[in-house]
This record gives sequence, structure tokens and C-alpha cells, in this order.
Amino acid sequence: MSSHHHPDSFPDDFVWGVATSAFQIEGASAADGKGPSIWDTFCKVPGVIADGSDGTVACEHYQRCEQDLDMIAKLGVNAYRFSTSWPRVQAAGSGAWNDKGLDFYERLVDGLLARGIAPYLTLNHWDLPQALQEQGGWANRDTVHRFVDYALGMHARLGDRVASIATHNEPWVMSMLGHETGIFAPGIKSRATAMQVAHHLMLSHGMALRALRDAGCQASLGIVLNLSPIEPATDSDADRAKARLEDGRLVRWYMDPLFTGSYPSDVVEHLDHDAPAVLPGDMDIIRTPMNFLGINYYSRSVASAGAPWDVHKSGLEITEMDWEVYPQGLTALLLRLHQDYPVPPMFITENGGAFKDPVVQGQVHDADRTRYLQQHIQAVADAMRQGVNMGGYMVWSLMDNFEWASGYAKRFGIVHVDYTTQKRTFKDSALWYQEFLARQTTSRLADVA
Ligand code: FCB
Repeated sequence: MSSHHHPDSFPDDFVWGVATSAFQIEGASAADGKGPSIWDTFCKVPGVIADGSDGTVACEHYQRCEQDLDMIAKLGVNAYRFSTSWPRVQAAGSGAWNDKGLDFYERLVDGLLARGIAPYLTLNHWDLPQALQEQGGWANRDTVHRFVDYALGMHARLGDRVASIATHNEPWVMSMLGHETGIFAPGIKSRATAMQVAHHLMLSHGMALRALRDAGCQASLGIVLNLSPIEPATDSDADRAKARLEDGRLVRWYMDPLFTGSYPSDVVEHLDHDAPAVLPGDMDIIRTPMNFLGINYYSRSVASAGAPWDVHKSGLEITEMDWEVYPQGLTALLLRLHQDYPVPPMFITENGGAFKDPVVQGQVHDADRTRYLQQHIQAVADAMRQGVNMGGYMVWSLMDNFEWASGYAKRFGIVHVDYTTQKRTFKDSALWYQEFLARQTTSRLADVA
């Protein structure tokens, strides 16, 4: 990386992007041979999605791909993070491939390359084929092998053109929210199942990496984790013990196997009979070296042994998700990962906020979101100044979309979407990001001069 580095400028090869995921934007949930995913099924359960909505239409990105590509290019990013929908390219999660689905992603990738934007692919952003769920989903070890086949199938079509492939997005969310609390698809409520799912996700990550490399894949390979610093509510022993355990379940449960080849023993002990079944050789596969580590950062988490932490009393600004705005937590997190683990270059693969976004005469004055992005980009720069090796930063999200159990009510986009007309409008934050990115290029030139 370049040694030229002053506060408002980043290295020449720094990756700047925006991120989305298939289920949240594509719509066309049964078009052109796509099979149902667990999220299509989950959305039909009464009461689980706040506004009763689903992904049938979403942002109609499947139909509006060209227009959206032009919009991404207009922002001036040099990378776009997206996911492929497994049931769109292989309806049942095994067996026949769906050419129309593969063609769609090929058009997307070629459209990005034609505009000089690096494609950052995520294979699993939560939308598992429903047919696989009917055989136990991620709790079934066989799904690990189905995922490796899926990864190889995507490599065969796109592997020579994508810059990067992440296996999974946020294994903690899929296992804990999908299988322990059950607030996300597939809506299972069992800690033992959740931990077995987490193990199978990690195992399939390592197996897919090995298979992709064996197949000659040249893309940069890694995984995306949702990580936060966990701070104790008070200095009491009980709160500190709680924070340590939560850190074990959120951070160390994923970082330790990836970089040291074992699960944290304090958490294994705590889980007791809910700890996952691990077969000989699994841990070696999971620690297969990665080219990058993706981190999604939104806020800190506060652990309390007593009454749950009340964000409204914290005195910090809070977003529409009731998440505290806490950019200093990002710097602290990156420094900690850099110190505790032999990490490859790290990327912020998601960062952003949901705010109230009224449209006023065709404009959205989201000063709160712009400030959020500025503060977090500064937090990344602060970590880099202290020696952390960062490869890039991506905003969540390109545009407003289906925010899972919150439906369409929570808006994370820097581009506003009117869901009745599908009109896209740059919010002020998008205009700011565009100008910021243009300035990065200018100061790079100034550095050279
Ligand atoms: C992350 C998800 C992403 C989006 C943001 C707000 O957990 O990866 O799809 O919903 O949260």
C-alpha cells in the first residue's frame, strides 16, 4: 500500500464501494425458473415481518439492472458488493442449474466491468434454497457439500471476472437470529441447532475456499463477519463476565477457528451439551488461509448481567434501528483484531445507518447519515494510521431495500427508493459520497505531483 497518507486521503489502491444483497433488492422472486428461498417462505409466516411485506418485488433490481448499474457508476465507486441468490441459479440447491439466473449475474458482472467497477461477490447472503431447508438446512452436514458445489458452479460462470468472493455474510446472524432466537429465517428456536449451523457454515466456508483454489480461482477469497466491540455496562464482575461471554459468542467463536483452528474453550464450556459436533479434520479446514477478512460494522454492543442496556439513556445518537452511533468502536475493533489475530487485509464490507428520510421537493436531506458515514470513514483512517492493514470500505447500502424482519420501513440506502414508482433519488449522503470519492482521486493526483 502507498505510503502517501494524510487524513482525508487513502492509499491509491483503496477499494471504495457500495453494498447490497440479492434478496433485499432483486424481487422477481419466482421469475425465470428461480426456486423459493427460506426468506420467501419465512415472509409468509404471519407477524414475522414488521410491515407484513416480502421480497416479491423489492427494488425490482432484477428488471432494472442496467439502470442500477448506471447509478452505481455515477457514484464514482470502484467496487460493488452484491450477492448471488443460490435458488435463482440452482432452484433446489442441488441438481439442475438455471441458465436464466446465471445469465442475469453474468450481465451484472459484465456490466460492472464495462463501467470499470470491480465485482465483489458474496455467495451466501442468507437466502438458502427452501428445498435444502426441507432436508434440515444448515443443520444438516450434507448442506456443506451442496454449498461447495454451488460455489464451484458460480466460479465456472463468473470466477474469471469477479475481483473477490466471500463465502458467507454474517454466520453469527444466520445461526443465532435464524436458529436460536428465530427472528430471521428459517425461524428455528434452538441453541443446539444454532451452534451446529454455525459450525457447518464455517466448515463449508473452508471447504469452498479449498475447492475454489483447486479449481484455479484467482479471485480474492474470504468471509464476511458482523463484529462489534462488546462493552460491559458497568465495571462490576458480573457485567464484565457477561461481556466476555458475549465477545466469545460474537467475535471469538468465528475469529478463533479462522485464525487459530479452535473454538474458544470458555464458550464451549458454557454451551455444555449445546456445543456443536465437530468431526476430525474440520478445524483444519476452517482455518484455510484467506486473502481478506470482511467486517460489517454498525454499532457497539453493551453487556449487562442485570436489566438490558437502554440505548435511549446512553446519551449517544441512536438510529432508526435503535443502534447507537459509535464510530470509536470501529477503530477499537480493528485495532483489537489486528493485535489478537494474524489477519489478512480487512475490508469494511458494510457500514451505514437507517434514519428518517423525508423526501422534500425531490430531495432527501439526510445530514445524519452523511455524518455517520464521515465519522466511520474517519474511524477507519484512524485505525490505518495506527498500523492496521485495511483494503477497502463499502457503504450499506446502495439503495433503500427490504430490511429483513423490519420490512421496507427501515431505510439504509444512500439512494432513496419510492416503492410505488421504483424511482431512485440520490439522497444528500449519496451526493456527499460522490464528491468525497472524486476528492480521493484529486488528492491522489496531488500526492503524485
Ligand atoms: C446486516 C446485513 C445486511 C443489512 C444490514 C443492515 O446485518 O448483512 O443485509 O440488513 O445488516
